[in-house]
Amino acid sequence: MYAPSGPALRPSLDRPGRACPISYRYAPSTLARSADVEADTLYVAGGVYGNPYAIERILELVHAERNGAVLVFNGDFNWFNVDCGSFASINHAVLRHLALRGNVETEIAHDDPHAGCGCAYPDGVGDDEVDRSNAIIVRLRETARGLPLVREQLGALPMSLVAEVAGVRVGIVHGDAQSLAGWGYSEHALAQPEGVERLRDHVAAARVRVIASSHTCLPVALSLDTPDGRCALFNNGAAGMPNFRGTRYGLITRIGSLSSPRALYGTRVGNAHVEALAVPYDHARWIDAFLASWPPGSAAHASYFERLTEGPCYELSAAVRGHVSWGACPTPKAMSTRTLRG
Ligand SMILES: [Fe+2]
Repeated sequence: MYAPSGPALRPSLDRPGRACPISYRYAPSTLARSADVEADTLYVAGGVYGNPYAIERILELVHAERNGAVLVFNGDFNWFNVDCGSFASINHAVLRHLALRGNVETEIAHDDPHAGCGCAYPDGVGDDEVDRSNAIIVRLRETARGLPLVREQLGALPMSLVAEVAGVRVGIVHGDAQSLAGWGYSEHALAQPEGVERLRDHVAAARVRVIASSHTCLPVALSLDTPDGRCALFNNGAAGMPNFRGTRYGLITRIGSLSSPRALYGTRVGNAHVEALAVPYDHARWIDAFLASWPPGSAAHASYFERLTEGPCYELSAAVRGHVSWGACPTPKAMSTRTLRG
């Protein structure tokens, strides 16, 4: 989950948390199946990371849709929620909706420590970060052991879903169209021409025109013109953590027949509007909850506290690429650290 930055760090490739387990892998053509769900409006929320206040806001957004909406949590809804009460309530809330398992849910559903956190971290993440993520998963798995039925449910969740919205087929994954923990849709990978070409191959093989992903912890959105028409990739980054420098809101993807007045940015694919919406969760309460489980000196505090309070070193403008344009909602300055500090 830790977002990579900077040059390659010569990682230890055999270290848990680096490798991508074979069981995580699938072919893009796996998505070339009949739609699992049809919706007029679809929300895709990846990377809640155990933030209950983000779930509150997401449910408010969904319930505010006049024609109803389908909500999919596309993995890693657990992470910081290592106390039993939070673990139970997060999973109770999520499992009432459609959900995919991310690497976090996959790894806490079994006892094999070989994959560590299952993040399959790329070179830009240092070994110390990987070790801290592995320490978090060990603690979370210990909590999960107290709720064996939930653990069983998490392990049984699918790795992908196919939706149809306004006649447009949407592939929903946690990582990318080849792996549960794939980094093919990271902002870095999609800045390379070969990464964009791989995305073209994925949408063709999957017979989808939109892919919604998460996992890499930094958002990116782009659209492509293909022989079959316009296609789009929306990686929402994190629903439960800040995604941009100086901000304190999460991000989710909304796909609907009508555009949202809350869209930060978006594009149109066929008759579907594909957009990113802010999740303005209660920052102060979330930080209190985080610190109760992860005080200074803990693994998660070392890796995430600065991001939770200041945002990552990543600009909103960097996420908006291709034919994606600014939405009806201006940049939410009211959710920046400059006005909410403290
Ligand atoms: Fe993940």
